[in-house]
Amino acid sequence: MSENENIPPDADETPPAENVEVSCSADSSTENDPSIGTPRRNFVVEMMAAGVGALVGILPAAIGGLFFLDPLLRKKAGGEGDGFIETDLVLDALPEDGTPIRFTVRDDLINAWNKFPDQPIGSAWLRRIQDQVLAFNTVCPHLGCAVEHRPSEGDFYCPCHTSAFDLDGKPLNVIPPRAMDTLEAEVRDGGRIWLKYQEFRGATSEKVPV
Ligand code: FES
Repeated sequence: MSENENIPPDADETPPAENVEVSCSADSSTENDPSIGTPRRNFVVEMMAAGVGALVGILPAAIGGLFFLDPLLRKKAGGEGDGFIETDLVLDALPEDGTPIRFTVRDDLINAWNKFPDQPIGSAWLRRIQDQVLAFNTVCPHLGCAVEHRPSEGDFYCPCHTSAFDLDGKPLNVIPPRAMDTLEAEVRDGGRIWLKYQEFRGATSEKVPV
């Protein structure tokens, strides 16, 4: 046996070239591993899912909110205009001598979320006074019956408690607490009559809209 046969290999000896190649080979395989990009893709997918989820949740809620707020929004927008209703009457349809004509007032009724077009909402006595219209609510200011026109007497008369008024609406006896309630009326382009229909509190000397 020779003198060097039992000597162990030197620990500081430079590793064989094959070990370096193995290390390089390991880095290359990491770059090509498809699992390295997964966390980023998962994040994008999660963000997209969250966006879609938010839209699905928020959109119906927003539509529902607008639906419930619709009456308030309409009031705020002043959807009722100036309160005048365009009738289907023209001035020439009223007798020139001022004889009263009973007219049924129609308008669209809006009850919260429902709209009922062209409904009867009340009635008025209309008189032509030259190029103007004198209008009265037909509701008696005493206790709310309907006031009639009595051609034979040339007055307005309420059969419930015998209130009587002249053709200008002034009381002819002490039963009614006030005159007949006048309504604003205008003759606009083409002679069309526009009416502002209102109702008033009964059994009081003051004309108080309700
Ligand atoms: S309700 Fe018309 S007189 Fe009483």
